[in-house]
Amino acid sequence: MKTKINQKINSLLTKDSKVMIKTTREHYRFVASHGDGDFAYDIAGNTFIDFSSFIGVYTLGVNGNKQIRDSIKKQVDRLMHPAFTDFYAKEPVEFTEKLLTMFPKGFGRVFYSNSGTEANEAAIKFAKLFTKRPYVLAFYNAFHGRTMGSLGLTASKAIQKEHFGPFGGVVHAHFPNPYRCELNHDKNHDCATACIDYIKKNIFAKEVPAKEIAAIFIEPVQGEGGYIVPPKNFFRQLRELCDEHGILLVSDEIQAGYMRTGKFLALDNFGVEADIYTMAKALGGGLPIGATITRHSLGDIPVGAHANTFGGNLVSIAAANASLDYVKKNQKALEDGVKSKSAYVMKRLEEMKEQYAIIGDVRGIGLMIGVELVKDIRTKEPAIAERGKIIEECFMNGLLLLPAGISTIRIIPPITISQQNLEKGMDILEEAIRKESKLL
Ligand SMILES: Cc1ncc(COP(=O)(O)O)c(C=O)c1O
Repeated sequence: MKTKINQKINSLLTKDSKVMIKTTREHYRFVASHGDGDFAYDIAGNTFIDFSSFIGVYTLGVNGNKQIRDSIKKQVDRLMHPAFTDFYAKEPVEFTEKLLTMFPKGFGRVFYSNSGTEANEAAIKFAKLFTKRPYVLAFYNAFHGRTMGSLGLTASKAIQKEHFGPFGGVVHAHFPNPYRCELNHDKNHDCATACIDYIKKNIFAKEVPAKEIAAIFIEPVQGEGGYIVPPKNFFRQLRELCDEHGILLVSDEIQAGYMRTGKFLALDNFGVEADIYTMAKALGGGLPIGATITRHSLGDIPVGAHANTFGGNLVSIAAANASLDYVKKNQKALEDGVKSKSAYVMKRLEEMKEQYAIIGDVRGIGLMIGVELVKDIRTKEPAIAERGKIIEECFMNGLLLLPAGISTIRIIPPITISQQNLEKGMDILEEAIRKESKLL
């Protein structure tokens, strides 16, 4: 599957550069045409195995599955927009009852929006309303969105915040990264406990009293920040800290949730419950939806304190409903599939790490896997340009990949990907890494 860049692609890229405001795209020349299951196709007729889920959305296959598409088509002919924050409608309520069966006992109440960032904006506001406290705490390397509230929480790349501040009412702490502990703790130290101690000794004691913090926001696996999996004991300690001080724990499941790690809620991998969860991306099966899900015991918010126009859009709800039906019906098979495919990818990557000097770290849960590339395994200097070359080489050989963090490649195929296509994708990745790396 050698990718050919033709005139159609070049001319579209030229037009795009004239009329579109720049986003995160740089040199990647994938111009989407259509998609199906494990594959994506571009406008020049090139075929790609998808290892991106189109940024974590197509968890059940590129362009969703037939049930999702049929459900969307049916709803479009009935009613699309129900003005759900002003009028009532049956479908969002019934979908919510179903969605809540996937959450721990005690949940809850749900607010719908259209994206991840909005789900987090709502979570910030709700946490402040519930606790009557002014501050929120988030972590370095976190990504929670790009609107002004969630952007305050985000701390993964300074360019994302440059010229947009100041951001009030947010404090940041270190997130335990077993490969690069920011507190310089070596293997003999417990990085998770060091990060908790830092919050106690530096933030609570010197910056903001714990009693003024409404919520601590976490990603169970940090996504855009580099696919960082914290040590197993971190969230339990953080939960205890929250309980001790009456702080709400908010789990941003926007990238890690919805079966990506093999569990519906990624935080469940750590045996901890949050007070508020946020979801988006895969939740809508390809259509925009954000959800903020609060523990029932937190109560409700005053009428008029928060609302929007499009939350509860019936077409998005129809897609989310069909997607969730599929998940519920096939949950065990999906869980087993994620487990076995994850074990395969991790084994391949661990073997590659023994061979190729450019691989510094391999980590992940389920099918949310990161490969961190370094120039030197001792100094751990990030191999930034090399990562770009590897992703491009994969693209030219029919594999769609996305970066994360400074020099990590993320592997997030649809969780429904066949073993055969997973292996083909891994072969393409290994060949690209082999070309770019010295042997050990
Ligand atoms: C963990 C996390 N939270 C929030 C967001 C923001 O979601 P959206 O782009 O839908 O606003 C993202 C997007 O990548 C994310 O990964």
